This record gives sequence, structure tokens and C-alpha cells, in this order.
Amino acid sequence: MNERPGDRGRGAFALDGASQRAKAAVKAAWWTAAGGVTRALAQPTRGDAKVKFEPQGPPVSAARLRKAYLSAFDKDAADVAAGLYPPVEDGPRNPAAAFRQALDVIADARAVDQRRRRGDGVEVRDEPESQGYPNYYRQNFHYQSGGWFTDASARRYEAQVEALFSGAAGAMRRRALSLLARHWRGKDQRGLKLVDLACGSGSFLRDLDGAFPRAAIAGLDLSRAYLAAARSRSRRGGVQANAETLPFADASLDGVTCVYLFHELPPGVRPAVAAEIARVLKPGGVLAFADSVQPVDEPDLSRLLEAFPAYFHEPYYSTYAQTDLPALFGAAGLRVAGQDQAFLTKALLLEKVG
Ligand SMILES: C[S@@+](CC[C@H](N)C(=O)[O-])C[C@H]1O[C@@H](n2cnc3c(N)ncnc32)[C@H](O)[C@@H]1O
Repeated sequence: MNERPGDRGRGAFALDGASQRAKAAVKAAWWTAAGGVTRALAQPTRGDAKVKFEPQGPPVSAARLRKAYLSAFDKDAADVAAGLYPPVEDGPRNPAAAFRQALDVIADARAVDQRRRRGDGVEVRDEPESQGYPNYYRQNFHYQSGGWFTDASARRYEAQVEALFSGAAGAMRRRALSLLARHWRGKDQRGLKLVDLACGSGSFLRDLDGAFPRAAIAGLDLSRAYLAAARSRSRRGGVQANAETLPFADASLDGVTCVYLFHELPPGVRPAVAAEIARVLKPGGVLAFADSVQPVDEPDLSRLLEAFPAYFHEPYYSTYAQTDLPALFGAAGLRVAGQDQAFLTKALLLEKVG
């Protein structure tokens, strides 16, 4: 951050927090409405779908769901008010762009639903663009059109995620930013090197850029199309590479961030990526990790978590849900130094020991 706590009066941070909350409320209402329309169009519970969902967990109480949902916005606004990071405007900056994006998501909802009905999460394997990538990657995650391979998919992704999480995605991701900003508070950023692993279309990269403007930050992703979108969303560059073999020297980075990657990796690949992260971090360097909450974190919401892989083609989610994350990262030499949680996302701060 340019400013350190104490540079500005308390009132300025409080105003920032209030403005963050107000903007979030407008965005939340917008994406809740857009998400509602896509769900109404897709009608995911119609009986002819191949996807069958037999819930095991108890019904989710509306009050519990609302409390968890609002916690993402409350924590985000509190962190802005505390001066941990500047106010962030998630999503499109003007109503015309917001309208276009919502229409695009709604227009694509039928294609997504047809894929869901066919139970076809590997349609992209027929596309020439997907040749040469690992098989686990050549899938239509979320049943999305184009998988990770097309510009249209990259353009649409953020709006799809916001519609899915009713506008809370940005605030949830920033639980990882919060942990990192606390850890680095007061530190001179100028020498810091940070990589956002699996940066996707760059929303979190943009947040990192706002929080640490003087640090050297780059995104990394396996998708050429998503990297191009990330470049246009944040002012930071991107590297196309596989997280299993990172193109960085041993002990060369102060920080790695990684948001919503691990639930999309097969169980056999997760330890390899954890080991790569540990290899490229300096001793004392940190991984700020965020991904889905697991049933053990949120037993009251377990029914929602069960439904997610059924409706959104997440072939590795069920093994992720049972993974002992501290043990996974511990085996790579990363120990838990902090944790946080909001709505459907958990964040961990992991420090390289030794
Ligand atoms: C669910 S998206 C998350 C994107 C972003 N971090 C976010 O917060 O929205 C998963 C991302 O991981 C990338 N990815 C998946 N497997 C990868 C791998 N082995 N190496 C690098 N990137 C990978 C995909 O291309 C995609 O952009």
C-alpha cells in the first residue's frame, strides 16, 4: 500500500469502509438478479438432467445462509476501513457494461444447461485449441462454454462467478488479500516479488496491484485466453505456464497467492503444485491461499457444498472437500500461519519454514 496506517485520519478509512459496503450492496443486488434469471432459464432441477443430486446434509437455513453471505461484505468493508487495502470496485465500472455482461451470461445459460443435461463436461476435448494440455485441464469446468480455451469464456468468467455467488466473489477472494496485507503491513514493498498462481481473468491480480502497488507482481495461468483478459483487467503482466512446473528459480519469491485452483486439480496433482510453490518461495515467504470452504468448516452449509459439483462440473471437488489442507501443504514444508473464512471461501496463510 502507498499509505501506511497513521498517514491518514481515522475518518478517511471509515469513509472508505462505508463506500466499499455501499458499492458492494449495489453489485450484490445486480448479480443476485442476474444469477436468478440464469437459474430460472436453466432450471437445473428438471428431471431429464443426467446429473442426479441426492442431498445428504441437512437443509440449509435461510438465516444461516444470509449470515454467512453478509460476513463476506462485512469483513471486506472492515479491512478497507482498517486501511489494509484500498476500496475496490468489483465488476464493470458503468451500468452499460454491467448490463452487457449480465446479458452475455444469461444468453450463454442455455448452452451451459444443455451441457449439464448431457452430462458432458469434456466437450472441449474436441476443440483443436485444447490439444497439448494435460487431460485434467481439458474439461468444461462449470459446464462453461469453451472451457479455459476461448476469449469469450475468459471475457464471461468473472460475471459468471459473480452471478453464481450473488456478487460476493470479490469480497470472498479478498480473505486471502486480508491475510497477506496483515502479514506484510509496514513492510517496504519495493523489493517484494509476488506471483498470483492460476490468476484466471485477473480480478485478484487487480486487487493485489491496488494493495501492493510498489511490489513486483505477475500473474501465471495455463490459459492463454485468460491471461490476455488478466492483462486488460490489471496493469500486471502474465506468464503462461503449468503450476506443476513453475518457471521460477528456487527461493526466488516472497509471496505466492492462489485462489480457486486447488479444487480443480486432481488429487495426484495437488501435492506436486504444493511442492512447486514451496520450492519457489524464499524461506519465510508466504502462500496466501483461498478456495472453497470444506464441509468440516461449514457443516450447516454442507448441502450447498454437495450440490456444487453436481451442477457445475467440478470433477475433483469431492476429493478436495475431504483434503486435509494443512497436511497437504505441511508435507511440502509450508506451515499454517493464519486463516480466515467468509461465506463459501476459506483462506489460509502458509509460511515456508526453514
Ligand atoms: C476457477 S479458475 C480461478 C481463477 C482465479 N484465480 C479466480 O480467482 O477466479 C481456475 C484457473 O486455474 C487455471 N489452471 C488450472 N489448472 C492449472 C495449471 N495446472 N496450471 C496453471 N493454471 C491452471 C485455469 O486456467 C483457470 O484460470
